[in-house]
Amino acid sequence: MRPTLDASPLAHSLPLVAPACIDPAAAPLGSGIAASAAVHKAALPHVLFVDQSGQLGGAEFALLQLAEHYPSHMEVVLLADGPFRLRLEALGARVQIINDASVSGIARQASALNCLRVLPGIVRQVRAIAARAQAFDMLFVNTQKALVLGALGKALHRKPVVWYQHDILTREHFGRVQLAVVKWAVRLAVDQVIVNSRASAKSLAALTGRAADTAPVVYNGIDASAFNCVDGTDMGMLRQRLGLPEHAWLAGLFGRLAPWKGQHIALEALTRLPDAHLVLVGAPLFGEDAYAQRLRDEASALGIAERVHFAGFQDDIPAWMKAMNVILHTSTEPEPFGRVIVEGMAAGRPVIAAAAGGVTEIVRHGRNGWLVKPGDAAVLADAIGVLRNDPALAQRLAQQALHDAQAEFSVDQYVQRMMDALNKAVKRRDGEANAQTSP
Ligand code: UDP
Ligand code: GLC
Repeated sequence: MRPTLDASPLAHSLPLVAPACIDPAAAPLGSGIAASAAVHKAALPHVLFVDQSGQLGGAEFALLQLAEHYPSHMEVVLLADGPFRLRLEALGARVQIINDASVSGIARQASALNCLRVLPGIVRQVRAIAARAQAFDMLFVNTQKALVLGALGKALHRKPVVWYQHDILTREHFGRVQLAVVKWAVRLAVDQVIVNSRASAKSLAALTGRAADTAPVVYNGIDASAFNCVDGTDMGMLRQRLGLPEHAWLAGLFGRLAPWKGQHIALEALTRLPDAHLVLVGAPLFGEDAYAQRLRDEASALGIAERVHFAGFQDDIPAWMKAMNVILHTSTEPEPFGRVIVEGMAAGRPVIAAAAGGVTEIVRHGRNGWLVKPGDAAVLADAIGVLRNDPALAQRLAQQALHDAQAEFSVDQYVQRMMDALNKAVKRRDGEANAQTSP
């Protein structure tokens, strides 16, 4: 059982923004595009999407929103099975699993020797993807392994390859071999890169020599209506429902448990905030179980275990976010985009975020959120203190954040921009093909 703290006078001192519910029936949780008439389905190319993961990470949520938009025009190939498949199928998408245990084992810091060992598995997957791609207008690769397999099969499938790049391609995040493989896959076989932020585009340019402006920026979209439809005005009731302490002052940190997501920085910051609680929502999705255990051990060693709540992976992110007084983002390496930041904004809660990567394209310090130096627990604790002690400032930030999330990061905008980029890629390819055949 989770212990609750004595009622704190500051527990509910942050005025909370409670937006009106737009239309829950028309836009079920996680969608936001079901009611959209903005995109003309007839004009859409038929797309084979490929993603390496069966888990639900940010890249997979971004793909879910595309799948939801036009299930009849697409199919998804996954290189691993998992909850992502179930979510895709629930939307009516056709999913095929092309799995190979040896290839699944390749790590981010892959060595050249490892790559050689898994060669037969790679060849099998390349062939299977290329064969499936014959029935589509293009191949949309959503992760790096998918990129490499799609690129290697280019001579077989001869379809335009579009890569939605979700990563910042630097040594902070990836090994030398992996970066070299990605660089050559892009140079030799990718017709169009679409990036999730300008920061990701910059890293692409530095790695491949392709000008950053050749890759359109398509920011992820967040379904504001899913947030609007959670009533966060009665905090007590909401927290009771989620099993959280009703009267404590809660800082929420959302995202998979992984060292670079910096949950340990939040733990350290909590030691400087005597009566605040920290709620960690998320699970180790990609094998970071040792880090998850380290966080629990650290919470005990620091004497704050009573004030740290490990919630595990949760589906109802809008409700969990609305139960918080402040939302934290603590990545120690530059975050390529950061869906959780926009979600915190859409929840109408003040957001404190680590100022690096795509984050600075979302958060304007002192206007719609609060930026802090990445990896610095003392600075983070100070920032939490500032917002806790100045409810008027916190409310102003939250109000502007809610507006900006809806105006700049809607699902409609996301889907429309993505469709425009895909249509352009197909047209350019058709133009090139015509130019080659005409005398
Ligand atoms: N998420 C979730 N349940 C959890 C933790 C996270 O559904 O328990 C979602 C979160 O709402 C967000 C995504 O996972 O949409 C994480 O995406 P983000 O871009 O923040 O980070 P990534 O994991 O892709 O690096
Ligand atoms: C990746 C990035 C994350 C981004 C997400 C969606 O998983 O780590 O920053 O928000 O993709 O583009």
